[in-house]
Amino acid sequence: PLNRPEAGALLAWYDRHRRRLPWRALPGEKADPYRVWLSEIMLQQTTTVAAAPYFLRFLTRFPDVAALAGAPVEEVLKLWAGLGYYARARNLHACAKAVMDRHHGIFPSSEAELLTLPGIGPYTAAAVAAIAFDLKATPMDGNWERVVARLFAVEEPLPGSKPRLRTLSGTLTPDERPGDFAQAVMDLGATICTPKRPACVLCPWATACEARAKGIQDSLPRKAAK
Ligand code: ADE
Repeated sequence: PLNRPEAGALLAWYDRHRRRLPWRALPGEKADPYRVWLSEIMLQQTTTVAAAPYFLRFLTRFPDVAALAGAPVEEVLKLWAGLGYYARARNLHACAKAVMDRHHGIFPSSEAELLTLPGIGPYTAAAVAAIAFDLKATPMDGNWERVVARLFAVEEPLPGSKPRLRTLSGTLTPDERPGDFAQAVMDLGATICTPKRPACVLCPWATACEARAKGIQDSLPRKAAK
């Protein structure tokens, strides 16, 4: 069952408006953990538009984790050139090798096991668990924080509000389709619930949104003064 009405409304919106992104499985298709992991590493400091051509080139040259692990690291760095943060590319290669050596080429599904792999932190572990394995997990980045802070009108500033935002996200995440739910939150944050001038009239959560009811959506999330 979809435990909260908000989850069902967001999933229905996602079914109509999901972004077509090259690392996403088509509706009804099984997600490929390798593609999900590769895209999440690329998207950490790069926009979806900038990452897409890199993702497609990587997939052509390294179609699976075995191909990536078997390549010389220099070749990985060359294909990465332009994305920046070359430690990420080195970790990418090290992670592919670790998945081959420690997991026989099969990505683990649990956040705890994913976290032990090179270059995989709490965000990426949660994103892979949710999107690739359809497990309940909270890949909480800035977009996610904004969406949830607004839905529940959390006025406490970041970063102090993070534990509360995480708890609220947990209550919101449905037992069914948690992977689509995570991607739907990402799409909502990228296209509707934007930092400036959110497009509330188009939002599937417009009637549920506590920030909108109070008229404070533009000022959330607040940030602690430095
Ligand atoms: N940003 C981070 N991960 C993403 C994903 N899987 N889809 C779209 N945007 C993202």
